[in-house]
Amino acid sequence: MFLEVKNLTKSYGEGDNRVKVLEDVSLDINKGEICSLLGPSGSGKSTLLNLIGGLERADGGDIIIDSLTISKLRDKELGEYRRHELGFIFQFYNLIPDLSVKENIEIGSAIVSDSMDLKELISALGLEDQCDKLPNQLSGGQQQRCAIGRALIKKPALLICDEPTGALDYKTSKEILTLICDINKKYDTTIIIATHNEAISQIAHRTIRLRDGKIHENITNDHIIAASELTW
Ligand SMILES: Nc1ncnc2c1ncn2[C@@H]1O[C@H](COP(=O)(O)OP(=O)(O)OP(=O)(O)O)[C@@H](O)[C@H]1O
Ligand SMILES: [Mg+2]
Repeated sequence: MFLEVKNLTKSYGEGDNRVKVLEDVSLDINKGEICSLLGPSGSGKSTLLNLIGGLERADGGDIIIDSLTISKLRDKELGEYRRHELGFIFQFYNLIPDLSVKENIEIGSAIVSDSMDLKELISALGLEDQCDKLPNQLSGGQQQRCAIGRALIKKPALLICDEPTGALDYKTSKEILTLICDINKKYDTTIIIATHNEAISQIAHRTIRLRDGKIHENITNDHIIAASELTW
């Protein structure tokens, strides 16, 4: 088992305002799986991703990634872990505006010793012609490709995507999903995608649904569809 989440709980707020956001959440994800994480707004998707990604601490429970109990790590070790093993992709690309595409991607490699070949990655992302442009000279899809490159260059074991196509049009969304699936196949990267788009569950090996901070459904998908074949 690559990722094990055990009895995770998380609340926000103090005193009377304290709200349980995750309640006894347990799940397992295999190495190399694409897992879609669905659920209504406020159901706890981003919170769960932030805990798995070590961006926040849970109140209780354990998170074990590749035999490492990250919920028990000290802050410094957790930071190291995040830098080396995890890639993050968000709805809004969070690129550095005054760095070129190439430089934005290169930044991801500055912190690890074993990174992907930059040229090869840029070509896999289809960004050869955009290399020297600044983010504001790119389309949304190109910016997201660049953000994916920044996350991937350090060869993360786990890629965490929070609404990766939330700001993109239909055609571009499908291109980005195709890219994510290609990465999964080529590098055996385990990928979690939080989304409001039901259709995305068809490209995933596993679908987990949250409702009010609890696991509502956890199913494996026997009929996976290529991202290019998706419609919604
Ligand atoms: N830092 C925070 N402080 C207080 N409450 C928070 C914080 N972060 C999230 N919440 C609350 O936790 C609940 C779950 O939020 P979360 O962002 O995980 O939902 P989500 O499923 O990702 O929703 P969406 O689909 O809208 O992105 C919400 O009620 C939200 O208001
Ligand atoms: Mg969210």
